[in-house]
Amino acid sequence: MFTFMPEQASEWAPYVDWLNDYITNISVFCILGITAVMLYFAIRYRRRGPDDVTPYITHSASLETAWTVVPTVICFFVFYYGFESYHEMRNPPANAMEVNVTGVKWRWDFEYSNGKRTTNELVVPIGRAVKLIMRSQDTTHSFFIPAMRVKEDVLSTVYSYLWFTPTKLGEYHIFCAEYCGLQHSGMLGKLRVVSEGEFGDYLYDRQDPEAVELPPAELGKLKFAEKGCTACHSIDGSKGLGPSLKGVFGGDHVMSDGSVVKADENYIRESIVYSQKKIVKGFEGIVMPAFEGQLSEAEVNGLIAYLKTL
Ligand code: CUA
Repeated sequence: MFTFMPEQASEWAPYVDWLNDYITNISVFCILGITAVMLYFAIRYRRRGPDDVTPYITHSASLETAWTVVPTVICFFVFYYGFESYHEMRNPPANAMEVNVTGVKWRWDFEYSNGKRTTNELVVPIGRAVKLIMRSQDTTHSFFIPAMRVKEDVLSTVYSYLWFTPTKLGEYHIFCAEYCGLQHSGMLGKLRVVSEGEFGDYLYDRQDPEAVELPPAELGKLKFAEKGCTACHSIDGSKGLGPSLKGVFGGDHVMSDGSVVKADENYIRESIVYSQKKIVKGFEGIVMPAFEGQLSEAEVNGLIAYLKTL
């Protein structure tokens, strides 16, 4: 019904638009219907003279049931379809291609798994699930690609993420959707969806060596040795002064207070930067140095990427 939505370029787009249409159509139908009935009643039952007395009506069980049940059913469908797509949007597939995104006043930085870095240009292959792991270096931003129907706040305190599968080649706008200061409206990026082959050329384009740095996982491995992590943390499962980091990422870990924590990007980051916040059960009393202010964003991201490989 509504043609003013941006073009549909991801797997989400048809679902999101369908639900949007569903809600809008019902709302339009209701407002027109209610207004029409209201006008009709106002005219039909208008007071026709001083002796025109309105009959006294208490209630109508069938009418009341109808206007309770019908909207409830409609709301249930809205909830069901909304929850279903929300659930999918929050659960990226394990084989999704990961790209790190950093929001900075006022630009978007991207970092691919091979170390390629770009600013304000994100290139992804068509038909592949892409997961963006996002963080802000300063204030709150919001990463928004209308054509993909994805938008997520980018915070300075925790990683947030979103994912989508592009279905159409082309160029699309990336916006910042959270007011973040003077140049907020200029915080624009470009998403290019290209063929698998073209993406390979792009990713491994060595003509511009400046743009390619150490891949995050390799940088992480380097820092892991350099910062002395190896002294306490084994990577082969053997016990050291600290917990072994073999297979640490993605697993559930029991903390000293009995709580169970899933080792995602946020947990790993917190454990590095503020090492005393959560202690793994069995390692109470052992103090790991906190690395607050000692590692750059790229180095923390690198360490996370490295731990994912163990
Ligand atoms: Cu960044 Cu608005």
